[in-house]
Parts: sequence; C-alpha cells; structure tokens
Amino acid sequence: MMKKHENGTDLFVQDQGQGAPVILLHGFPLDHRMWEEQVKGLSPHFRVITPDFRGMGQSSLPLSAMSLEQYAQDVLSLMDELGIEKATLGGFSMGGYVAFSLLRLAPERFSALILANTRPEPDGPEGRKNRMNMAVSLYDKGAAAARDAMLPKLVTPATVQDQPQLIDNLKQIMDSMPAEGLVHASIAMAFREDSVPLLSSITVPTLVIAGEQDAIAPPDVMKSMADRISNASFQIVPAASHLVPMEKPEAFNSLLLEFLHDVKA
Ligand code: MLT
Repeated sequence: MMKKHENGTDLFVQDQGQGAPVILLHGFPLDHRMWEEQVKGLSPHFRVITPDFRGMGQSSLPLSAMSLEQYAQDVLSLMDELGIEKATLGGFSMGGYVAFSLLRLAPERFSALILANTRPEPDGPEGRKNRMNMAVSLYDKGAAAARDAMLPKLVTPATVQDQPQLIDNLKQIMDSMPAEGLVHASIAMAFREDSVPLLSSITVPTLVIAGEQDAIAPPDVMKSMADRISNASFQIVPAASHLVPMEKPEAFNSLLLEFLHDVKA
C-alpha cells in the first residue's frame, strides 16, 4: 500500500491483519520484506504495520538530508494517516535507532517496545569514517557496495551454507535498494544521537532480542542496554547472527508472540 506523505513524498507501508497494532521498523540496507515471516506469524492475531523508510524499498527518495528524527517523523505521519493512536513499536538495528528517536519525539504513542539487534550508543570517529567510505562506495558501485559489506555480518556461515534460498532472497532485497537512499541512511546513522540517556526514561514493557553471534549489536552490549530499561526482558537467540528475524524466524516469532500476548493481557 502506498501512502502520501504530507510534504508530497510517497511512503510505502504494508498493513496486514487486524487487532492491536504492531509497527516493525526494518534495518539497513533492507526494507519491509525482511519482516515477511513476522507478518505471516503475527498478522492472524495483530495488525502488523511494516513501512519502508524514505529512500529505501519502495518509498521515494529524500528531497533533503535525512536524520533519524526525520525517519521517525515519517513513521508518526504514517500512524496518523492509518488512524493509529497508539502501538507496540519494534525496531531492528537501524529500525531500533529510529525507535529511539520516536520515543524521544512521541513516547505517548507507544505502549510496548521491541528492540532487536540494535544498540543505543552513537558512532565514534572510526564508525563515522566507515559510514562515509560506505557512502562513497555506494556512489561508485551502487547498492552492491552495501550488500557485499553487510552480507557476511547478517547471517552465520552455517546459514550461508544451509539456506541458499534465504541468501538469494536477501541479496535480491539488498540489490533492489536505491543507492542514493542508502547514502542518506549511512550519513543519518553516522550522526545519530546518543540514546543511552533515553533508556532510563523508558517505562513501557520492553523485549530485547539479541543474536548469539551478532557482531554489530553483540549480546553483551544488548544486555547492558536491557539492564538500563526498567521493564525489560532480555533474550538471546542461539546459532543466530545479526539478522535474527530472517535467520531464525520461528524462535523470533515465538518470543514476539509470547511478549505481545502478555502485554495485551
Ligand atoms: C542495520 O542492520 O540496520 C545496520 O547494521 C545498522 C548499523 O549499521 O549500525
């Protein structure tokens, strides 16, 4: 479904199922298709909303420089258009950074929180430099630059070996990204705010999910994030790397369903 944003850019959003709304925000360099298994598993019970960030997937390219706050404003506009006053908010990696921005901008719009494979600290100088190098490679080589850099970090070697179809699907998603949209996302992430001070203000029930072998958001970093949120539970999915929702959808979905049913009760 395509939704018109108030300033004239088109934002894509998939809206599936009925019931209490759950918004799932994708990572980099991906789009709403990373949530395919969650949409299948959750939509018989919940209204599952999966947008594409501006400049990624089927949403149109940004007209000016992006910040994490701007991606968050887009999500708030979509919620208004879809008539969603309050929702459970889930963010994977970059989607988690956007979730932190949403909690700064409009905490009253969210009743529960899912943080998957994400971290609250901002980039240091080295991280920012890597993002700038990524931006340059994206201009030189197109979306393949992000695919080649990210793929080995997203799933375990065992998954690469055993699940060729998943890898093909993942490559197809990453290859279809507009390179310029990924440049915007890289620069926005490079200059994102420190979300550590936000954590103590989060009071809603929160589920934190880590992948046992995730090097981008390692389990110990995620555990200390969960420890700073008053009402958080922390789970590690075994034999998984960064992209847990696609790599271990059954384990991921059962954690989500259990949490969502508890929150609703
Ligand atoms: C993601 O998966 O969204 C990215 O790895 C986040 C990041 O690069 O910090």
